[in-house]
Amino acid sequence: MHTVDVSDNATLAAVDRGNRPPLLLVHGFPLDHEVWQAQIGAFEDQRRVIAPDLVGFGASSPEGRSSLDRHADDLAALLDDRGIERAVVVGLSMGGYVALSMWRQHPSRMAGLVLVASRAGGDVEANRAARYQMSIAVKDKGVGPIADALLPRMLSEDAAPETREALREMMHRQPADGVVAALRAMAARPDSGPDLPTVDVPTLIVTGDEDAIISVASSEAMAAAIPNAELKVVPGAGHIVNMEEPGAFNALLRSFLERVDAR
Ligand code: MLT
Repeated sequence: MHTVDVSDNATLAAVDRGNRPPLLLVHGFPLDHEVWQAQIGAFEDQRRVIAPDLVGFGASSPEGRSSLDRHADDLAALLDDRGIERAVVVGLSMGGYVALSMWRQHPSRMAGLVLVASRAGGDVEANRAARYQMSIAVKDKGVGPIADALLPRMLSEDAAPETREALREMMHRQPADGVVAALRAMAARPDSGPDLPTVDVPTLIVTGDEDAIISVASSEAMAAAIPNAELKVVPGAGHIVNMEEPGAFNALLRSFLERVDAR
């Protein structure tokens, strides 16, 4: 992985493979770039695939960021470092929140937007309180208990045992400080709803119809608000749709990227 210095003495680690039009893959919570393994393998011969560990996750600095906007700034710094002007940005769940923040702050860096199992709204008060509770539990007991509590909701009931195990390991290895920071940053995130009508790059919205964490209705609402967005629902897939149904997901992403190229 490449390591890039970003602000506040933090470092950001990222996979950077291939040499065609850039595709930036932004993982969800509490995960790292390995959630994109099936996409890195499938796209590296046709794209320049950049898959970072957000600060606070994976091989990046473990302390985390206080806001999702800071993560978006890190991604702009990553593109600068890699000499990339614009990329199609794919955000999974929390990664989608970061992608929308990137749209707000660095729109000229985006050639297209893919929101996967994500949503535009901020947290309602009950969710915000639950995240603070969870952050206290992580400080007290580490990441393990919340990872185990979240895992059953991340995939559909029929997900392959190897997929479930890979996800479990990925969640368990994330640093507690980074997980706490991300919980607080997500709780404090603004409503990106008002930004959606301004999105004027090609947009694909993907969700699994068995997502137990973010409803299909959230994706439908984003698709209705973003001009010319396409919505695709993957049957039988849970929240981590790209990992659970990589064949279907990759086919959707491939045909979207062909349309972006054709513009
Ligand atoms: C994620 O998968 O990134 C999280 O479920 C997002 C969230 O907790 O809102």
